[in-house]
Amino acid sequence: MISPAQPSVAGKPSDWPAVEPRRGVLFKILAVLLGAAAYVPPVALGVASFLNPLRQKRQAGQFMRLAALDALPADGAPLKTTVTMDRVDAWNRLLNQPVGAVFLQRVGPKEVRAIHVVCPHAGCFVTYEAKENIFFCPCHTGRFELSGKRKDTTSPSPRDLDSLQVEIRGSEVWVKFESFQTNTPKKTPLA
Ligand code: FES
Repeated sequence: MISPAQPSVAGKPSDWPAVEPRRGVLFKILAVLLGAAAYVPPVALGVASFLNPLRQKRQAGQFMRLAALDALPADGAPLKTTVTMDRVDAWNRLLNQPVGAVFLQRVGPKEVRAIHVVCPHAGCFVTYEAKENIFFCPCHTGRFELSGKRKDTTSPSPRDLDSLQVEIRGSEVWVKFESFQTNTPKKTPLA
C-alpha cells in the first residue's frame, strides 16, 4: 500500500501530490455547468410566456360549440351561455375557464342569433329583462331590442350590441366567439 506523500519536517510544498490543483479545476468546471443549467428553466419559461399571447390569439375568434339546438327556448327567449376556454401560460394550465358569455336566441327552426353580453358603451354586462323583452345595461340604463338594436335615440351606447357569427352543425350551435373594442361606433375586434 502506497502512503500519500507527507511534507517533510522542513516543509517542502513541491513534495505534495499534484492531484489537488486538478480537483480544483474539475470543481470549477462543474460549478460553471451547474450555474448554466440553473438558467435553462427560467429562459425556457420566458420563451413560453413570450409565445403565450400568440397561443391566446389563435384561440380568439374561433368557432366554439356553445349549446345543443334543442336546449334553446322555442319561443326565442335569450339563453345566456357561458363561454369557456383553456388558459395556458408559463406557470398554469387551466382548463375550461370562463372567458365571457353570449345570449343565444332561436329565431327559426334551424336559425340562431348570438349576441355578446358586453355592452359596447363601457363594457358592462347586459341582462335580459323578460318583462320588457329587452336587453338592459345597468351601468347607464342602456336599452336594446332582442336583435341588439339600440332602443333609444339618446342611448349612451355608440353602437348596437355586438352580434356574433353562428353556424348550426347538425344539432349543435357553434359561435365564433370574439370581443370588440368598447366606446367606439365601429365594431372592431380586439387584437
Ligand atoms: S356601459 Fe352599458 S350603457 Fe354604459
